[in-house]
Amino acid sequence: MSIYIKNAWYVAAWANEVNRDLLKRRILGEPIVLYRKNDGTPVALIDRCAHKLLPLSMGHLAGDNLQCGYHGLEYDCSGACVRVPGQDRIPATAKVRSFPLVERYNAIWIWMGDPAMADPSKIHTVRKIGEPGWSVVDGGYQLHGGDFLNIAENLQDPAHTTYVHVRTIGNPATSEVPVKVEQGDDYVVAYRWSNNVPPPPIDKKNGNFKGLVDRCQYYNYFAPCVSRVDVVTMDAGQEHTEENMDKGLRVYSYKFLTPETESTTHFFWMQVRNFGAGDAKVQAELFAGLNQTFAEDNVIVTAVQREQAATGVRQQTWLSIDAGPSRVRKMLEDMAAAEQA
Ligand code: FES
Ligand SMILES: [Fe+2]
Repeated sequence: MSIYIKNAWYVAAWANEVNRDLLKRRILGEPIVLYRKNDGTPVALIDRCAHKLLPLSMGHLAGDNLQCGYHGLEYDCSGACVRVPGQDRIPATAKVRSFPLVERYNAIWIWMGDPAMADPSKIHTVRKIGEPGWSVVDGGYQLHGGDFLNIAENLQDPAHTTYVHVRTIGNPATSEVPVKVEQGDDYVVAYRWSNNVPPPPIDKKNGNFKGLVDRCQYYNYFAPCVSRVDVVTMDAGQEHTEENMDKGLRVYSYKFLTPETESTTHFFWMQVRNFGAGDAKVQAELFAGLNQTFAEDNVIVTAVQREQAATGVRQQTWLSIDAGPSRVRKMLEDMAAAEQA
């Protein structure tokens, strides 16, 4: 069974990646070419000419149309062939698929499933973006060498941070704190509060903490492709009210997973925070720190996936820390199975 869930909005690209050049990107196994019309509207077509299958990304734009680089067939933005050099008749088979797109949150979202179901109101809502006092780091992108499910599991797995992210977000003080897991129809959340602990290096840098802190992490996974990790770091000894939490460091860390193939994943990330507004240094450090953190995850998940492929075994032993990851996998597998049934 395929792991793909097609009827969903996925991030295809950051908005600034799509312009009047042709961007080639494989999404859910399909070759896609992206570009913008002269008026700025983004377009996505199958990257495969209806004649001899040359990738259309090897052609060029003729106004808003895309011209194949082999024999010059020209397609409009709906994927209909509008010109065949050397003949008047346009064969009925001369067309390519086009995909619904929406530009939102500085990203281009694509719908790979049934176009009749492509409702833009179903795009995940990003919290706090654009609100006063909140800043955004976006544009993060890595191609990860793990499948979508292995990466979703990693994102729903607080227990690894102490060991994988020693140099960035890891905090040995939290490794013995048990994680609680809750689940709804299309989300799983795993969370824990660690009270009276030393702040990890990244928080020490950004917050003005005098001593010990209370720190919570909520690992939310929204099916099929959005992870949001909420982190609060606040001076220890206060009540955990929204108001007190907002006085500490508060972060929403988003990852948008877009399967490239059955074994590789586009990993787009964005972070929304309530500190360091307008501070270019904080902005640059956060980008570098997060980029490093996710690169650390990629090393782990890629190596795990390689061994899974070599052995045909996905996991040999189950631990209580697997509760969150296992639920997220099951939720996504059930969703893919229901869609394919
Ligand atoms: S392969 Fe595209 S026009 Fe021939
Ligand atoms: Fe991680």
